[in-house]
Amino acid sequence: MRLRIATVALATITTMAWMQAAAEDGGALYKTKCAMCHGDQGQGKPSMGPKLAGTAKSVAEVASVLTKGGEAKVPHIKPNSTLTPAQAAAVAAYVKTLK
Ligand code: HEC
Repeated sequence: MRLRIATVALATITTMAWMQAAAEDGGALYKTKCAMCHGDQGQGKPSMGPKLAGTAKSVAEVASVLTKGGEAKVPHIKPNSTLTPAQAAAVAAYVKTLK
């Protein structure tokens, strides 16, 4: 009986941890952290940020702009410290859905 309760508890914790990892919402992150410069639909904004819709960069390259920086101008010269690697990956995947 005890073992059974422990097993259920462990399974629940594991599921919750998994859900948290999968819960990074790229679309929501994009709206709060990118849209003000790159536009709601990734269409770009004059003198704010270039168009991201249809970017030639791969998901990994977009994520790398966020986790490593290295682009020419602010804010992407440096890594974005407000995003975890999982969040960067989620928002990069979202960027690739913008057409
Ligand atoms: C403060 C405005 C600003 C914010 C916020 C911002 N960006 Fe940018 N972004 C820029 C500017 C300006 C450039 C172009 C200059 C450069 O190359 O760094 C750029 C360039 C990029 C590029 C390279 C584009 C290309 O095709 O070479 C990517 C990818 C990118 N941003 C993704 C993002 C994502 C994803 C977010 C949200 C997590 C974000 N940016 C938030 C201003 C911003």
